[in-house]
Amino acid sequence: MFKSAAGLHLSSKAVARSFYLPSYVHGRLRQRRTWTSISRQVDSVTVHSLDNVQLPYIWLRDSCQSPESIHPPTRQKLHRTSDIPLDIAPVEGPTGVQVTQHGLSIQWKDGRTSIYKKEWLERYSSPVKLERFHMDDRLREESWTRVSISDMPALFQSYRDIKSSDESLGKGIDQLVKYGLLFIRNVPSEETSDNLCELKKVAERFSELRRTFYGLVWDVMAVKDSKNIAYTDLDLGLHMDLMYLVNPPRYQILHCLRNNVIGGISIFVDALHAAQVLRENYPYDFDLLTTTPVAFHYLNNGHHLHQERFTIQLASPKPGATHQEISHINYSPPFQAPLPISTPKEFYPALQRFAAILNDPKNTYQYTMKEGEAVLFDNRRVLHARTSFRNRTEEELKELGATVRVKDGEPSRWLKGCYIGADALLDRVRVIKTRVD
Ligand SMILES: [Fe+2]
Repeated sequence: MFKSAAGLHLSSKAVARSFYLPSYVHGRLRQRRTWTSISRQVDSVTVHSLDNVQLPYIWLRDSCQSPESIHPPTRQKLHRTSDIPLDIAPVEGPTGVQVTQHGLSIQWKDGRTSIYKKEWLERYSSPVKLERFHMDDRLREESWTRVSISDMPALFQSYRDIKSSDESLGKGIDQLVKYGLLFIRNVPSEETSDNLCELKKVAERFSELRRTFYGLVWDVMAVKDSKNIAYTDLDLGLHMDLMYLVNPPRYQILHCLRNNVIGGISIFVDALHAAQVLRENYPYDFDLLTTTPVAFHYLNNGHHLHQERFTIQLASPKPGATHQEISHINYSPPFQAPLPISTPKEFYPALQRFAAILNDPKNTYQYTMKEGEAVLFDNRRVLHARTSFRNRTEEELKELGATVRVKDGEPSRWLKGCYIGADALLDRVRVIKTRVD
């Protein structure tokens, strides 16, 4: 038996290799002694300082960071995982696996040498550390209710700050990714054309615009003989947009250009929170909503779009987890197609219970958008709605006096909207945070 520097007893098949330093050495030097403590097995090497993580040789060789494995200018992999010989191993003897203060060096039997930096090994040594590296822990979704979101100081942010400072943009993206809802104040609203509107600049500051059949940007205003209920003055219940697309857009932005109406209150609700409440109190209903397909379609105006989705979509199972996390929600009654005839009858009361939680005043956040305000929300999680509205009468306008602008020919309630994707947004926030922190 060997005894390693970390005090671990190792079998005779394993070879412990370490630096021995006097016991009075403390601080950083003492950490070095721990780091250099490893043991070799037949098909892997164990690094004791990294919670005894066992690194299989096949994983190490496949993850080799040398210029022969990773093309330096592109940082892309030059071999396929399937190319690695299944019995790949280091040469025998002390040169096979060497550990230094900076990392691990492996000399392979085929003559290749791989160097792994200590920081790199630490990053991959546990799922938690890897999650931290990708900032997934800091950007994890957190559910909210009306009270909790109302008290959130970061819910309303200044456009001037977001436009001029990457740190402020990072805070804005944090709020949007974590809670799925962010308001921005003082977004210029004079320019209303699709090409020059400020909305495009807001969208490009956060991410990249996503074109749909509605265009790159679009106008929400009451239109005679509208092809979409959104473009009327009717009450529009809680819903998500474009559930009938293969890949619905992640985030939506609505910029209020004009608002001189009575009504037209915006409502938002965290459907993730509602799904969690359902899971906790009605697990049978929750299971039904995760397994019963609901069809959505857009069969109008020369289009034929159709998709089936579960109301609550679970994420892929994680090894060792007791239950699957909720990935996103698919709920859009106005765009629902007839359900399959085979839909279990228990699905209907289950959906009713979910709808009751969604519409519970404890969960709905109401806000009347003012001119120059923009709202950004997660279209795969936060539902949006709008109450009906009507134009102000002449008398009501007179009462409000000069504070209200009503331009000839302009709609009295006018929002300009667009969609943006998650990828560019997450890319941006990770880069900003790495630079700012
Ligand atoms: Fe909508």
